[in-house]
Amino acid sequence: MKKSILITGGAGFIGCHVVKLFVSKYPEYKIVNLDALTYAGNLENLKEVEEVPNYFFEKVNIQESEALKAVFEKHKISDVIHLAAESHVDRSITDPLAFVKTNVFGTVNLLNSAKEYWKNNFNQHLFYHISTDEVYGSLHDGSFFLETTPYDPQSPYSASKASSDHFVRAYANTYKMRTVVSNCSNNYGPNHFPEKLIPLCINNIKNNKPLPVYGKGENIRDWLFVKDHARAIDTVFHQGKAGETYNIGGFNEWKNIDIVKLLCQKMDEKLGREAGASEKLITFVTDRAGHDLRYAIDATKIKEELGWEPSLQFEEGIEITIDWYLNNQDWLDHVTSGAYQDYYSELYENR
Ligand code: NAD
Ligand code: TYD
Repeated sequence: MKKSILITGGAGFIGCHVVKLFVSKYPEYKIVNLDALTYAGNLENLKEVEEVPNYFFEKVNIQESEALKAVFEKHKISDVIHLAAESHVDRSITDPLAFVKTNVFGTVNLLNSAKEYWKNNFNQHLFYHISTDEVYGSLHDGSFFLETTPYDPQSPYSASKASSDHFVRAYANTYKMRTVVSNCSNNYGPNHFPEKLIPLCINNIKNNKPLPVYGKGENIRDWLFVKDHARAIDTVFHQGKAGETYNIGGFNEWKNIDIVKLLCQKMDEKLGREAGASEKLITFVTDRAGHDLRYAIDATKIKEELGWEPSLQFEEGIEITIDWYLNNQDWLDHVTSGAYQDYYSELYENR
């Protein structure tokens, strides 16, 4: 095999799209999905590749160094694409330490495992760290986040991701490890866990449940279709320059309330409801503590240097997303009932 790539967090939302893309596009690579299968990890996201010969799964927590070492040795890992993380801002407000343990400690553990296995000889190896635009803080004017924007994280989640980004760059500087970091805006699309805004609203509209909008719904996010992020990761992995940072975004800013209204309108049409019926479900609730006002990425560098840009308009992407949720009721039922967590034992423990 040409490469043996360890993709961490491959059972999660973005990771499963990266794994599926790499497994199908690069049959000459061995793709090792390493995931602890927390509440956010769901092997049902990977059904279509589980029997493909170049796909492997390892249930491992990145906080466990011995287990990581064993995986590097067993699969002769040549490169890492690191997505495993605690990823939900609201959960980071209630349990910040969980974010330190996985996002900071776990990332440093993974860096150490790679460093030791590659024996400080990094020429043929790349450690690619996937990060977020939230490390840059909150925008209050019309400006955009650039790769050079100083870090100013505001939530425990973004503070933990910022810390992990710093460690990756410190390993590049100190040990000369070949690393690359990309910072992406909010993703949406199939397989998104329904605790995040878009899938939560789709699920609640369908079930006629309240749509909780924080504060006045005026906060702005820049949304990118998840498969476009996976394509960007492929581009950066193969063409990105070691030591560089690439911002990835959709040039697609929306106020939360406008997204929620758009979802209501589209779902009324699809579910054959009277126009305006679902909007009645909108419920303004207490704002998130320390809620960042606006995120917006300037993705000029990746476009000009590596030729990547989003392939889908938001209206197309949101149609695909709604249709996916409406056509995958089993997935949604398993996720909302917790039954997806039995899938691993059925698939791997009883073999
Ligand atoms: P997710 O929460 O859907 O998935 C995270 C995955 O990591 C899950 O499969 C989970 O089981 C696994 N995981 C968690 N802790 C682990 C541990 N200790 N050891 C091994 N595996 C563990 O997250 P996501 O939305 O797919 O995000 C993936 C990455 O992309 C994260 O690093 C996140 O910070 C970053 N990111 C996300 C977005 C977004 O909009 N979702 C935007 C930009 C960047
Ligand atoms: P979220 O999907 O949690 O992503 P992030 O916090 O990483 O941007 O939230 C997106 C936006 O939607 C954010 O401004 C918070 C808001 N939000 C709500 O208004 N209601 C909700 O129920 C959720 C989950 C989020």
